[in-house]
Amino acid sequence: MLTRVDVELGTRAYPVLIGAGCLASLGETLRAHGLTQTNAFLLTNPQVGALYGLPAAQSLHDAGFQKVVRHEIPASEEGKNWEEFSKTCAALLEHFPDAGASPLVVLLGGGVVGDLGGFAAAVYRRGVPFVQVPTTLLSAVDSSVGGKVAVNFGGVKNIMGAFSQPKLVLCDLSLLRSLSPRELRSGAAEVIKYGGVCSASLFEQLESGALERLLSLDAETMVDIVSQCVRLKAAVVARDEFDKLGIRNVLNFGHTIGHALELSAHYDLTHGEAISIGMVAASGLAVELGVCSTVFRDRLTGLLKRAGLPVSYPGHEALFEPVLKALQLDKKFRNGKNLFVLPERAGAWRQAEDIPWGLVHGAIKSAIR
Ligand SMILES: NC(=O)c1ccc[n+]([C@@H]2O[C@H](COP(=O)([O-])OP(=O)(O)OC[C@H]3O[C@@H](n4cnc5c(N)ncnc54)[C@H](O)[C@@H]3O)[C@@H](O)[C@H]2O)c1
Ligand SMILES: [Zn+2]
Repeated sequence: MLTRVDVELGTRAYPVLIGAGCLASLGETLRAHGLTQTNAFLLTNPQVGALYGLPAAQSLHDAGFQKVVRHEIPASEEGKNWEEFSKTCAALLEHFPDAGASPLVVLLGGGVVGDLGGFAAAVYRRGVPFVQVPTTLLSAVDSSVGGKVAVNFGGVKNIMGAFSQPKLVLCDLSLLRSLSPRELRSGAAEVIKYGGVCSASLFEQLESGALERLLSLDAETMVDIVSQCVRLKAAVVARDEFDKLGIRNVLNFGHTIGHALELSAHYDLTHGEAISIGMVAASGLAVELGVCSTVFRDRLTGLLKRAGLPVSYPGHEALFEPVLKALQLDKKFRNGKNLFVLPERAGAWRQAEDIPWGLVHGAIKSAIR
């Protein structure tokens, strides 16, 4: 049985289908949702491809996709760059030179495959349809939904990209069983983010044991928590698809210092680990500014620790300058200021663009000391 969450975007609306064991019927599901392309371009990475590439391709063939081309990019953040993007576009052009035979692009992987492949699909022939098949907890709850697609460029994260919505997201939770504990925890950081700033009830549920059940891959908890996160994200995206109204900024909680640290540490930290540290830093700022209580900051820090996530990156004082520099290259750096999402209490937030540099410096220093 599949749980369905709709991302309500008018003509660009699409369903997110969540279940266990549904990869085997990927092709059938795509056909049932009106995706009638003759061919498919399956983008993945060597790790995910080795585990799930064959069943995915088989299911596409069984559903009548005639030509299924598989292309791989390197695993992890190192694969999310202009060169791999360019190679992916070259593979699309090489295998599908005829406009009449344009493929459905199927993105089988975590956020890196989804972000890079979604961007390639968004610009190839000014846009070909794509679907997301997330294989990490992080991509299931966050990156596969919402249509932000991008690659890193010039030392800046996600600076080359587009808004382009998938036609469908199929999330097979049984694929998460092969994730390393570290990658699972990394996804839990985004789950805690949703609880922290979007939903007090999710936050409390995680505190009362759902976090541990999620990390131990309890089937019922996985469906429940992933679909709650997707619903929360879908609601935000539906109100601010193009990130113009400030509403979508909520999803950036922990990402200002988090992204800067992720880049400066040269990806020694996963995305989730970096934003875990970033959320602690942002809630520390919120406390200093009188926006949130120490009680909430400590609850948040406690939950992140329970998930096995780092709350600081000690012994890396040398990263102070690189982090500052990266902050100034952040996508949301505007008029000399960074945008911070500050938690107020569980499920509530506000943004701040005028935080004194002294406080920001202090927050960075405590994150890396
Ligand atoms: N577009 C958005 O809205 C959005 C939101 C959040 C994060 N992101 C981006 O997502 C990226 C991080 O995504 P991620 O955490 O999924 O990382 P990832 O795609 O790098 O995957 C993490 C690792 O897990 C492996 N893996 C993936 N699925 C697996 C499986 N089922 N079994 C075993 N191993 C598996 C991968 O090979 C990789 O080594 C970052 O680049 C971040 O910027 C984008
Ligand atoms: Zn993120």
